[in-house]
Amino acid sequence: MRGVAALLGMLASGALAHAGPGPDPHSYADPSQFVVRHASLDLEADFDARRLHGTVELRVERVAKEATLLRLDTRGLEIQGVELGNAEGGWTPLAHQSGAADQILGQPLDIRMPAGREAAPMQTVRVRYSTRPEAAALQWLAPEQTAGRVRPFLYTQSQPIDARSWIPIQDSPGIRFTYDARIRTPAGLRALMSAARDTERSRDGEYFFVMPQAIPAYLVALAVGDLEFRPLGPRTGVYAEPAMLASASREFGDVEQMLAVAERLFGPYRWDRYDLLIMPPSFPFGGMENPRLSFITPTVIAGDRSLVSMITHEMAHSWSGNLVTNTGWNDFWLNEGITTYLERRILEGVYGARLADMERLLGLQYLDEEIATLTESGRRADTALVLDLSGRAPEEALSNIAYEKGGLFMQFLEWRLGRAAIDRFLAGYFRDFAFRGVTTPEFETYLRSRLLADHPGAVSERELQEWLHGTGLPGVVPPAPAGVFVDVERQRDDWLTGRLATRELEARQWSPQEWMRFLDTLPADLPDPRLAELDEHWAPGAAGNFEIARSWLLLAVRSDYAPAEPRLESFLVSTGRHKMIKRLYEELARTEARLAVGCRIYARARPGYHPAARQLVDGIMRNCEAVQ
Ligand code: BES
Ligand code: ZN
Repeated sequence: MRGVAALLGMLASGALAHAGPGPDPHSYADPSQFVVRHASLDLEADFDARRLHGTVELRVERVAKEATLLRLDTRGLEIQGVELGNAEGGWTPLAHQSGAADQILGQPLDIRMPAGREAAPMQTVRVRYSTRPEAAALQWLAPEQTAGRVRPFLYTQSQPIDARSWIPIQDSPGIRFTYDARIRTPAGLRALMSAARDTERSRDGEYFFVMPQAIPAYLVALAVGDLEFRPLGPRTGVYAEPAMLASASREFGDVEQMLAVAERLFGPYRWDRYDLLIMPPSFPFGGMENPRLSFITPTVIAGDRSLVSMITHEMAHSWSGNLVTNTGWNDFWLNEGITTYLERRILEGVYGARLADMERLLGLQYLDEEIATLTESGRRADTALVLDLSGRAPEEALSNIAYEKGGLFMQFLEWRLGRAAIDRFLAGYFRDFAFRGVTTPEFETYLRSRLLADHPGAVSERELQEWLHGTGLPGVVPPAPAGVFVDVERQRDDWLTGRLATRELEARQWSPQEWMRFLDTLPADLPDPRLAELDEHWAPGAAGNFEIARSWLLLAVRSDYAPAEPRLESFLVSTGRHKMIKRLYEELARTEARLAVGCRIYARARPGYHPAARQLVDGIMRNCEAVQ
C-alpha cells in the first residue's frame, strides 16, 4: 500500500517526469508528436509590473498522424488563453491545462489539438500569457544597477532551461525553430534580440526582429536598455550603454579580425552579423553566445585587450553550440569542450601562441582543481565528459570539466593526428551537422569514420572510451605547453624562499595571466605581513583587471587575510558573474569564522544578483541562518 501511495505522490510531484516522453530528460516536449518550427513573439516589456505581456504564435508540425496532445514547457507563466488559427484568419479556443509544477522542469502545458479531418500537418497555435516578476530567465534592473544609472534595464538568460520561464515553448536543445518578434518598450529604451535587426532604428518604443536561421529555445534572447551601437567592422559591432561605448569599442577592436581567423579555420560564418552587447555588471556569466549578438560581461573590459579570450569563446560558439548543438545537457561537453578548443585556436591566430598557451595552461590548472574539488565532495562521477543528469538540475553540469577536459580531449586528438587533420575534420563536422543537434554517440561515429579511420592505430578504442566516459584524467594526456610560465614560477619560488624581495618581483611586466598564475599557486598559509607586502607594493586587489582582483581575493580568503575584506565586499557587490563569485563564496562557507563575514557580504550583494546567481549562492551559503 505504502509503495503505491509513494508512487502516486511521486507522480503528483512530477518526480517521474524525468523519465521524459522524448529524448531529453529536461523537457516535457515530445518531438515524436509535434514539433515547433517557427515562433512569432509579440511582447510588451512592462517595467513597472516587471512583466512581459503578450502572445506567441507557434507554427507546429504534426509529426505523428494521430497526435492530439501538444505539450509545451513553461515555468511560472500566467496563461490567459490558447487558440488555434483557422483558414479564414480567425482564432478558435483550444482546451488546455497546466500540469503540476516540478522543481526542476517547471510545468507542462497540455494543449488538445484537433484530430481527424481537421488535423492539418502544419497548424498555428497562439498562447496569450504574462511572465511573473520572479521569472527565472529575466532580470529587471533598477536604474542604479546600470552603468548610466538613469534608465532601467531588462535582459534574458535562458541557457540551459529557463526559456520556458518567459516563452511557452518546446524548451529542448534538440528542437530548433526560426522566429520573429515585435517588442514594445517604454520610449527612450532600445530592444535587442538574437536576431536580424535594424542597427540604426530610432527609439520609438516598437522593435521588429527576424531570425531566419533555426535555433533551439535557449538561444532566443532579449535585452532592453539605454543602448547605443558602434560598428567595429563591416559585419561586426558593439552595443553598450553610452557610458561604456567608447571603452568597449576600444577593447574589442579586433573582433572583425577574429571572425576572419575563425572562418579560415572552421568554415563560413553562417549568421550574417556578429555583434556584442555589453551587459550590466550583474550579468551572471562571462558571456552568453546568443546568435548574432553575444551578451558579454563588462568585467572583460580591462583596458588592454588582455581578456578577449571571452570574446573568442562566445564567437566560437557560432560553430560549436549554435550551428551544431548538443541535443541534451548530458552532452554539454560537445558545446563547451569543442568551443574551448576553438577559442584558443582563434586566440592563437590573432594574438600568437604565447597568449593561447598561457590560457591553455591556466585551463589545465582549473581542470586539476575541479577534479580535486568534485572528488573531495563525493561527486567523482561528474568528472566524466558525458554525464547523467536525469532527475538533476542541468546547471549541475556547469563545471570546468565540460570546458577543460573537453578542450583537452580535442587537443589530445590534435597531438595524435596533427593540426591539418583536425582542422579538416572540424570544418567537415560543422558543414555536415549544420543547424542540427548532435549526441556523443553520433559524434563518436563521425569521429571514427572521418578522422580515426584515416589514421589507424593513432588513437586506441580504449583511449577514446577513457576520454569520453572515464572519470578524472585519462592515463595519457597531451604534453602541456612548455615555457610560458617558467619565469613567473621561478620568481614565485624565489619570493617564497626569501631569495627575492617583494619589490624585486618583475610584476610590472606580468600579463594578467602571469599574475593569475602567481596568485593562484601561492600556498594558503602565508603569514599576513607577507600578503600585506604584496598588497602595498603591487596592489593586485585594486587592479582594474577583474581576473587579477579575483585571484588576489581568493588568495586573501583562503589565507584569512582580514585587511582585504572591504575590497572583497565591493567586488562581490559589484559583479554577479558565476565564475567570479562561485569559488569566493565556496571558500567563505568553509569555516565558521569566514561564514560570518561571507553572510554579511552576501546579504548586501544578493539583491543585485540575477535569479540564477542567487540560486547558486543560496545553495553555497545555506548555513547563513545559523550564524545570524
Ligand atoms: N554558454 C556559456 C554560458 C552558460 C553555460 C550559461 C551553461 C548557462 C548554462 C558561455 O559560453 C560560457 O561558457 N561562458 C563562460 C565564459 C567562457 C570564456 C568560459 C563564463 O560565463 O564564464
Ligand atoms: Zn561557452
